[in-house]
Parts: sequence; C-alpha cells; structure tokens
Amino acid sequence: MSSLFSPFTLKDARLRNRIAVPPMCQYSATDGLVNDWHLSHYASLARGGAALVIVEATAVSPEGRITPACLGLWSDEQAAGLARIAAAIRAAGAVPGIQIGHAGRKASANSPWEGDDHIPADDPRGWETLSPSAIAFGANLPRMPTEMGTDDIARVTRDFAAATRRAREAGFEWLELHFAHGYLAQSFFSPHANQRCDGYGGDHAGRARFLLETLAAVRAEWPERLPLTARFGVIEYDGRDEETLADSIELVREFRAGGLDLLNVSVNFCIPTAKVPWGPAFLAPIAERVKREAGLPVASSWGIERAADAERVVADGQMDLVMIGRAMLANPHYPYALAKKLGLDPSWVLPAPYAHWLERYRLEAD
Ligand code: NDP
Ligand code: FNR
Repeated sequence: MSSLFSPFTLKDARLRNRIAVPPMCQYSATDGLVNDWHLSHYASLARGGAALVIVEATAVSPEGRITPACLGLWSDEQAAGLARIAAAIRAAGAVPGIQIGHAGRKASANSPWEGDDHIPADDPRGWETLSPSAIAFGANLPRMPTEMGTDDIARVTRDFAAATRRAREAGFEWLELHFAHGYLAQSFFSPHANQRCDGYGGDHAGRARFLLETLAAVRAEWPERLPLTARFGVIEYDGRDEETLADSIELVREFRAGGLDLLNVSVNFCIPTAKVPWGPAFLAPIAERVKREAGLPVASSWGIERAADAERVVADGQMDLVMIGRAMLANPHYPYALAKKLGLDPSWVLPAPYAHWLERYRLEAD
C-alpha cells in the first residue's frame, strides 16, 4: 500500500493521489493572456497522473507581474483563457488550481532566459515597482521600489479579491495565494524588506497585517467548500532561522484562524545572500514542524523527486501533498515513473489511450 498514491480530500477537492504540480512560471504570455503554449503545457501535466495542477504565479494587476510575459487575472478576457486551462486539467482527472500574486519589488524583470534581471528604467517594457519600503532586493534585481501608501495597499488587497472572484468564475477548485519567494506579501512580513513605521510594519502584528487583510478579502470571495491555500516562506536562511521560524509559524496559526485550509511551505527568498541548504527534500523537516506546530495540512517541494523520498515524506506524515516541479517539466508522466519505481501497477496512472499500450511495454532509459 503506497502512501504517495493514496487519495486525499480537502473540503470538496478530491485528489486521486498525493502528487501535485507546483506553480511554475512559463514566461510565455502576451498582455497576461493564455495562449496555446499554456493550454498544451497544463493539459499535458494533468494527463501525466498528478492529482493537482496549480497554474503558475498569475498577477492580480499589471504591475504585479514578475515579467512582461507573465499571466494575469485582472481582466475578464484573461479569465476566459484561464477557464480553458481549468477545464483541460479537470478533463484529465486532476484538480485545477491557480496561484495568484503580486511580485512587488521583484517585478519588471526579464525572463530567466533573457537575463533574469530588472528591465532598465529607460526601457518602455518596464514599470515602477511597489514594496512596503523603498529598499531594493539587490544582486540581479537592483531597481529601487516605490514605498506603498495605504491607498496602494488597499488597492492591491482589492485586486487580490477581484482576481479570486475571476479564478472562481473560471472554474478553479484550488486557490493558492503567493505569499512567498520575496514577492510583495513575503516582503511585507520580512524585516529585510519592510522597515515601515506605520501600522503595516514594525512588530509581528504590523508586518502580518497586509497578509491577513488580503487573506480576509480573498476568503470573502472564495467558496467555503473549496480549499483556500497559500504558499509562504517560513525561513530565510540568513542566520536567524529559529527566530524567523517561530515568527512565521505564529502567522501560519493566524492564517488558519483566518480560514486557510493548507500551507505550501517554502523559503522566503527576500535577500540574495541567503545560505539555502539545497539538497534532496531539504525542506521536509521544516514542513513537518509547521504542520505540527500550526495544526494545518501542508504541502512542500524542493528536490522531492526520488520515489523513496516522495513516498517517505507522506508515509511519515511530514506533508500531506508532495509538490514535484522540475521533474514534471522533464517528464510530465513522472507519476507513472514513480508508481513503477514503487512496484505498483502503474497502468491506472495514465489515461487509457496511453496506459493500454504500456501494460506489456517495458521502457527503461539507459
Ligand atoms: P535564483 O533562481 O536566482 O537563484 C538564487 C541562487 O539559488 C542561485 O545561486 C541558484 O544557483 C540557487 N538556486 C536556486 N534554485 C536552486 C535549486 N533548486 N537548487 C540549487 N540551487 C538553486 O533565485 P530566485 O530568488 O529568482 O528564485 C528562488 C527560487 O524560486 C528558485 O529556486 C527558483 O527556481 C524559484 N522560482 C520561483 C518563482 C516564483 O515564485 N514565481 C519563479 C521562478 C523561479 P545557480 O546560480 O547555480 O542556479
Ligand atoms: C518555479 N517556482 C515557482 N514557485 C511559485 O511559487 N510560483 C511560480 O510561479 C514558480 N515558478 C517557477 C518556474 C520554474 C520554471 C521553476 C523551475 C520553479 C518554484 C517551484 O514551484 C518549485 O517550488 C521548485 O521548482 C522546487 O521544486 P522542484 O523543482 O525541486 O520539484
């Protein structure tokens, strides 16, 4: 009996196994709109046997995009394209999810394969970036952001709520708020990026305020019967790990009280000098601690691609869902490969037009 291939139910979302595809930017859109690339990409990931496919970081407003080629959800036209992706994922037997976010001071960048750096100020493709304080990220992202006024904060919170409404109308059944990776929400909670002296900075309550107000605004728009989740960095790897973890877990408890159903545990990425201990499943013990101390179901990713690791983190109760990213880009049928590796009958992992022909077919890579 495999834990990885056991079903998981969260509210009305019924997942056929514990494998989820985390959001992964495709940097392939124009004007935030879905095109054929996105449709074929997401349909293929869902056909490969994952239980949940979360559409990439999708911006709640134009200035919230990471790059000019990111998806958006600030217009009904954008929602119509995303509805086709949600339908394609559902038709392949997976739960359709979407991550919505605002890139804050990491916005207005070139795609990773076009430099991964800020677009120069004199380039018409770029735009003014927003952040809790006028502090630049540094390294490849040196652009100085504009410190947000309380009217900007209220507007972005409303943008999150409007994008939530569109996500619901587009047919998504799983919502993930992007509160991680040094983007706007993570920046509000991070003392590295937030040095405000008003009610949106300073102590825990001040730094948490934007995230909790956004969660409340989203909660009011998202159906109670469907999972409302967030991706949130709980550790910066800046030498103050215990302090950051305790502060973060306190906020996760507040998320739970505010109606969050699951946390996708991640890393802060608010400073370019963090000493992240990259390695297989390195975040699993942290995810387990968040689950235990905050009392919330968790998912996580980062190097969990070996079958034994994926099976173990679920069997040991470290996480409820395993997010598998790059391995799914390399092979969208990766769940099939995992099932084979775990000695399970993999024929039911793929749709019949593929699975039927693979029952007696033995394919091993050299
Ligand atoms: P970078 O991708 O610029 O990476 C920063 C440093 O961390 C680099 O030295 C890089 O090494 C190293 N690194 C990053 N990921 C890994 C990994 N998986 N394994 C080993 N080393 C790694 O940092 P960003 O701040 O732009 O992104 C942080 C993370 O978020 C990255 O892992 C990235 O893949 C992911 N990401 C998140 C997005 C989002 O949330 N919307 C969008 C795109 C990516 P090296 O220079 O050797 O590559
Ligand atoms: C990412 N990642 C990411 N994370 C996120 O929260 N929103 C996003 O849109 C993206 N975009 C993105 C694009 C690409 C091309 C990669 C490779 C990564 C991070 C991703 O969700 C995942 O956490 C990491 O890839 C680590 O998991 P794996 O790849 O080790 O399984």
